[in-house]
Parts: sequence; C-alpha cells; structure tokens
Amino acid sequence: MKKTLEEIRRDFPILSHEKNEGFIYLDNAATTQKPKIVLEEMDRFYKNYNANVYRAIHRWGEESTRQYEAARKKISRFINAREEREIIFTSGTTDSINLVASTFCRNMRPGDQIILTEMEHHSNLVPWQIASEQYGLKLKYIPVTPEGTLNMDILKTLWSEKTRIVTVTHMSNVLGTVNNVKEIIRAAHSRGIPVLLDGAQSVPHMPVDVQVLDCDFLAFSGHKMCGPTGIGVLYGKAEYLEKLPPWKGGGEMIRSVFHDYSEWNTLPHKFEAGTPNIAGAIGLGSAVDYLSSLGMERIHRMEQDLTQKLLQGLREIPGIRVFGEAPERGGIASFTREGTHSHDLTQYLDSRGVAVRAGHHCAHVLAKKLNALSTARASVYFYNTGEEIDRFLKILSEGDDFLI
Ligand code: ALA
Repeated sequence: MKKTLEEIRRDFPILSHEKNEGFIYLDNAATTQKPKIVLEEMDRFYKNYNANVYRAIHRWGEESTRQYEAARKKISRFINAREEREIIFTSGTTDSINLVASTFCRNMRPGDQIILTEMEHHSNLVPWQIASEQYGLKLKYIPVTPEGTLNMDILKTLWSEKTRIVTVTHMSNVLGTVNNVKEIIRAAHSRGIPVLLDGAQSVPHMPVDVQVLDCDFLAFSGHKMCGPTGIGVLYGKAEYLEKLPPWKGGGEMIRSVFHDYSEWNTLPHKFEAGTPNIAGAIGLGSAVDYLSSLGMERIHRMEQDLTQKLLQGLREIPGIRVFGEAPERGGIASFTREGTHSHDLTQYLDSRGVAVRAGHHCAHVLAKKLNALSTARASVYFYNTGEEIDRFLKILSEGDDFLI
C-alpha cells in the first residue's frame, strides 16, 4: 500500500517533534532529514554488534562486515551498477571527486585538458584545479547560457586530441537545471573520453541508472538522500577503477606490504584505506531501502509538483527574481529580492519559521557569471507539502512589512 504524505512525514522524527511544529524546512539541497529506519539501523549497529569490518574473526565483526557489504549491494542495485565492486564508500561527493581527480590525472601530461562546466559547485571544480596545477593541465569550461543551461554549441569547440576527461554536474545545486548528460556522454565516448557525473543533487531526487546513462564515474553523498553525513559513494566502471592507482594508503587497501613497496588489494578495497565509516554505510543502505520503498519515480513526481508550485508562486511576487529557466529542472529555486541582501531575507524567513539557504552556494564561478554573488535558495524534498510552499510564498510576499 502506498504511504500517504502524512504517513511519510511521520517517518521523520524531526518533522513531528513538537518543538518544530510549523517550521518549514526548505534547505534540502544542503542536507536532508533522516527517517526513523536510518536512525534505528545505525543505533542497532552501535548497540548490538559494533566491531571493525574484515579484521575480526568473531561474531560481531562478522555481522558488521555482513551489514557493511549488504549496504554496498543495496547501493549497487539502487543505481544499477553492473558489479558491487564498482561501489566505493567515501566520505561524500567531495571525497569521491577528489579520489578521481587525484588518481586519474596522475598519468596525464602537461597540456592535457579537462572539460568541466561553469555550473559546478566547488566539489567538482577545486579538485580539478588542484590537479591541473600539479600536473600542468588545462581546464576548459562549457559556459552557462542566460537561461541557465549548458551551451552545447560551445562544447563542440572544446574537444581536442588532448581532452582526457569530462566532469559535469547532473543537476545544478543553484539553478536546479538537469543537464542533458546523455548527450555529453555520447559525444565524449565517441572520442574515447570518460565522463564523471556529479550526482549530489540528482541521485537523491530521480531514478539514476548508471548503465542507462553509461557514465564512467558517478559521485554522490549520503546525507542529501536521507542518509547520515560523512558517507558517500564513488561509482566507477570496473575497467577504470582497476587501472587507477590507489589514492589513500593504509590498512585494508593492500594485499602485501614490503619494506620498499606494497601490492594493492582488489576492488573495492583498494580505495577504502583504514577503518571505514561502517555505521554511515549501514545508515546509507537503510536510506536507500527507504527511498526504494517509496519509489524514485514517485519521489521525482512529488517533487516536480512542489517545484512547479514554488516557481510559479515566486514569479508572481513583485520584486522577486528567480534564476534559471531550464526546461528540465529539479526542486531548487534560487532567487533574489529587489533591494534586500539575501542574508537579510533569509534571516527574515527564519524569524517567520522558514529555513532556506543564502550565499553563493559553493558555486563561486556560477555566482559571478549570474552576476548575483548572493542569492536565497529554497529546495524541496518529497516530504515537503504544498501547504508549506503556499505558506512560504505568503511569508515571502509579506516581507514588504518587515524588509527595506
Ligand atoms: N553543495 C551543498 C549545497 O548546495 C552544500 O548546499
């Protein structure tokens, strides 16, 4: 039986806590709330069988290893990876992208090129800058159009025989734009170039199938999809992960260690040095169970309805400017209010019981391009209600009485 929205909301203790009654949380692009099942599963790990994975030959260690690997299997199914060893646990999207940037670029030559976009948040920009400085590489940007989409005509001019990788966000954390990544992947693959997708804002909100997209790498974070902080995933096609050198050295990523060198473990362990975030992985596994039980198609539809209402309402309020007009977009709306700094606006909204984010949203390059160094951003998740959106819009339009 399909859960009602009311039942869904009851699954989230924070939403039904009496102290939070009436509070409207619209900062879901920054982090999402956690359902009971995730909190209970992590609690169960610490209370019932807390032990390190792989290293212990005792029942608790066996159980924690079993649960940790079960989580990997769930995540592998969730994004339809071909093999479980293609799922690497990291601390989040940033960590996943740093892993690829640090290892993939090691074999590049000075002058080799990386294609990225002006839409990237810092997680998918700064790691490539660091690598380019280290190895003398060149970054080439797909520009953003005034509508907030990628300029695909310019992309055609960026390819060269020195292009080694393309890295692009699946969904913008500022504009909500869902990029036509299939087209980019097809174009890159026709030249033999791999593509990394930053799925931080897409994987939590829509069905993402790595085999359908045919991306070579996909990075995403647990905390943006009902899971805990400090856990994330790097999906990589085994053929690439096999060839990449390890990133961090330490326990479990080795097969044998000698005085002068080491031999590496197989996938996925080669990239999981040291004691991993076991509780986090188990929590993320439960989050994936939860999302799957609702259905990613349904989650996407629920959010599309909320987004439509949100965008339409924002556009009707005098003095509000919404950024981005992409035809395909997710539940993110960045906006400004004429004559008011977004920090003041956000503070006002908080005083009236609404949480949104303000600033450059970790996307400085895009903020400069939009000529809006600071915007307010409302972002929805499936547990938000239409009534919350209406109330938010009303409070925003009442701002005239409180704001300059
Ligand atoms: N990148 C995250 C956001 O957009 C933190 O809020």
